[in-house]
Amino acid sequence: MTFQKAFAIPLVAAASMLATGAWAATFKVAVGDAQGGTQWELATKFKQSFEQKTGGKHKLDLFPNGQLGSEEDTVNNASMGTLDFSVLAVNNVTPFSPSVGVLTLPYVIQSAEEAKTITMGEIGKELTANTVRDANVRIVGWAYSGFRVLTNSKKPVRTLADLQGLKIRVPKNEIMIATYQAWGINPTPMAWSETFTALQQRVVDGQDNPYITVAAMKFNEVQKYITNVRYVFSLEPMIVSESVFKRQPADVQKAILEAGNEASEHSYKWLMETEDKIRKDLTAMGMQIDDAANGEKEFIAKASTAVWPKFYQSIGGKDKLDKVLKTLGR
Ligand code: MLT
Repeated sequence: MTFQKAFAIPLVAAASMLATGAWAATFKVAVGDAQGGTQWELATKFKQSFEQKTGGKHKLDLFPNGQLGSEEDTVNNASMGTLDFSVLAVNNVTPFSPSVGVLTLPYVIQSAEEAKTITMGEIGKELTANTVRDANVRIVGWAYSGFRVLTNSKKPVRTLADLQGLKIRVPKNEIMIATYQAWGINPTPMAWSETFTALQQRVVDGQDNPYITVAAMKFNEVQKYITNVRYVFSLEPMIVSESVFKRQPADVQKAILEAGNEASEHSYKWLMETEDKIRKDLTAMGMQIDDAANGEKEFIAKASTAVWPKFYQSIGGKDKLDKVLKTLGR
């Protein structure tokens, strides 16, 4: 993949000399979502842990709401070493390092606990090695965001028949595009940073993202209906530019990795404590939540059987999916 420079402004750490003679750095962290979501929670916990571990010598500046560019741009910039850190949805990393697509295959991960097992274990380590190899970015933490639910402004959707005719925005992610195609519609791939405006201006009717993201992004202002589907559990990694990481002394690298682990643990706990309340808040703010009919059976049947084989090659072979399923005891 060719990486192109998207920004002229420097996005990497500014370094300065402390009175003690030691170097101090302020690292920049792009956050795709608005404050209040799981990405923000991960980034703020990471900041707190990292700054404390480095004795306040090194700092992090957080830039929420896509201020440093679209999520795809931030991967691009981190890979070139012109951005330090980014927190973004894993589906927007997939175009740069296709093997992480195994996390987005529909109906593979079926609970938050499974998401944690996969990301914090052997498979998570393999995927990180792959992102370093493919895109020069290292995954140092994970936000656990809950299942992506379908929202739209037009009508309740409980069946695939209800979905037909709706214009649904999806990330620029081949697996998610193929999933909607298997469900019988041609979705509209669009950058995350453009999605709110597209919903507001009715360029598209709907999109999917977790409850917490829907609330953080204030989609309730432009969407009315939610369908409680569970086709993708949203995982949102914190990535660091491998060039930036490699330049750090051992103690700073250690602080980055430890802070990432602590922030991931925090994120999981926070999801458990928060998601139910947010779902209720969305209902109180006027959104209507429906379950998919018949336990989502027709969505599952069309998506898993039709979609998985198309991506065996890009995720690194069918055995990669088999390994994930085996790890999950299936
Ligand atoms: C997307 O839909 O592009 C992402 O999942 C949005 C996000 O980063 O929350």
